[in-house]
Amino acid sequence: MKLILLGPPGAGKGTQSKRLEEALGIIQLSTGDMLRGEVASGSENGKKAKEVMDAGGLVSDEVIIEMISDRIDHDDCKAGFILDGFPRTVPQAEALDSMLSEKSLRIDDVITIEVDKEAMVRRITGRYTCSACGAGYHEDFQKPASAGVCDKCGGTDFSRRADDNEETVRNRLTAYEELTAPIINYYDDAGVLKRVDGMAEINQVTASLKEIIG
Ligand code: AP5
Ligand code: MG
Repeated sequence: MKLILLGPPGAGKGTQSKRLEEALGIIQLSTGDMLRGEVASGSENGKKAKEVMDAGGLVSDEVIIEMISDRIDHDDCKAGFILDGFPRTVPQAEALDSMLSEKSLRIDDVITIEVDKEAMVRRITGRYTCSACGAGYHEDFQKPASAGVCDKCGGTDFSRRADDNEETVRNRLTAYEELTAPIINYYDDAGVLKRVDGMAEINQVTASLKEIIG
């Protein structure tokens, strides 16, 4: 099973990818997580990416396409994968099509998670993550069962993303509208796009996704 999950910042791509990863035994490939890994490692790509990400812009297509093309070749992608945050521009969508055909792979479903603009800012500014295992939470919408303790690993240290402040979020939304929204039409025109109501409760969104995936 190979999926593309599309949607603006805060739509729930990461939240739902993690759930599908567990349910379907396929791996989440988040270009945002990969880039944050590069930043943390202090690599040249990471240094360049950090500036762009902190400003809420998009990292160059060239860097991203190479990163994904290499990653898809790893053994852990053989059972399937969920593309989260990629493609994000029309050139990336076109490059993905050629890379898949070169690797004799095909995507099963392209699904966009639709959310209202105001919800995105609230979701992102309230988001935090377990520093030990990466489990995602939200101050209002997804609290751990016991306050201050991660449900998954029992960790008590949490962190927030550097780009999750209101100013950067607004820039990320502008980048989405200008550069990423056109790929919705790209997949719609190809007749492969499916839509899910991302304003529904988290479990309901997961159920809608599973219904599409079958
Ligand atoms: P990336 O990490 O991909 O960030 P993003 O697209 O802005 O998306 P988010 O991760 O913020 O949102 P999400 O949809 O995953 O939401 P989540 O599930 O966490 O990219 C970061 C940066 O890297 C980019 O700005 C760019 O610079 C660069 N980059 C990455 N990929 C690139 C590419 N391909 N090309 C170029 N540059 C690239 O949910 C958010 C919160 O809401 C959580 O707290 C969650 O608990 C809560 N929540 C989720 N669903 C619901 C619900 N249904 N109801 C209530 N709350 C919910
Ligand atoms: Mg995410």
